[in-house]
Amino acid sequence: MHIHNLSKTPSILNSFMSEIRDKTIQKDSMRFRRNIERIGEILGYELSKSLSYDDYKTETPLGISNTVLHKKDIVLCSILRAGVPLHNGLLNYFDAAENAFISAYRQHKHNPESFEIIVEYLACPSLENKTLILADPMLATGQSMVATFEALKPFGTPKEIHLVSVIGAQEGVDYVSKAFDENAHLWIAVVDETLNEKGYIIPGLGDAGDLAFGNKLQQ
Ligand code: URA
Repeated sequence: MHIHNLSKTPSILNSFMSEIRDKTIQKDSMRFRRNIERIGEILGYELSKSLSYDDYKTETPLGISNTVLHKKDIVLCSILRAGVPLHNGLLNYFDAAENAFISAYRQHKHNPESFEIIVEYLACPSLENKTLILADPMLATGQSMVATFEALKPFGTPKEIHLVSVIGAQEGVDYVSKAFDENAHLWIAVVDETLNEKGYIIPGLGDAGDLAFGNKLQQ
């Protein structure tokens, strides 16, 4: 897998990352969602440099401008619910994309430190020969990303796969690297040190879904 860790080059992205992590600023849920969206826009822009392009002529009032435009074959798939603001950021740039949504959540059985990933809702167009962008803001264990990809398999074989995440733990990055093809790409804003015993990224930012949409009752 090709790993593109954007934190290797300092940029304006650092300002948005710092705000989503800051335990005071992140309490403003509208700002939190908007910052995740802005990060999605930046990740989308970086990812766009690796897409396939076709020649295109634009007629201006004064002549013809020759350019290249990316192929309109993108399916943007996000994992509910934390993925929604990241999805919106990507969709702001890939505005012609088809969309897929899937629900994946952690079900803690008896022990709060162990969980399985439950996939339930799934709405997806054909993926056959398309460019699949799979977005999950927090790449913790990597299990949700892999469970999602498994659930998408009956919808066809994409020609390209791009995973997009905001914060990852090294463990999650290693897990998806093994599970996905060597030609797949991971676009990630930063990779943090570790996971705690509950599977949260440290230092991370907390629970991205709760910060964007409010607390939920534990299942
Ligand atoms: N999901 C989150 O929202 N936060 C984490 O740290 C890990 C998974």
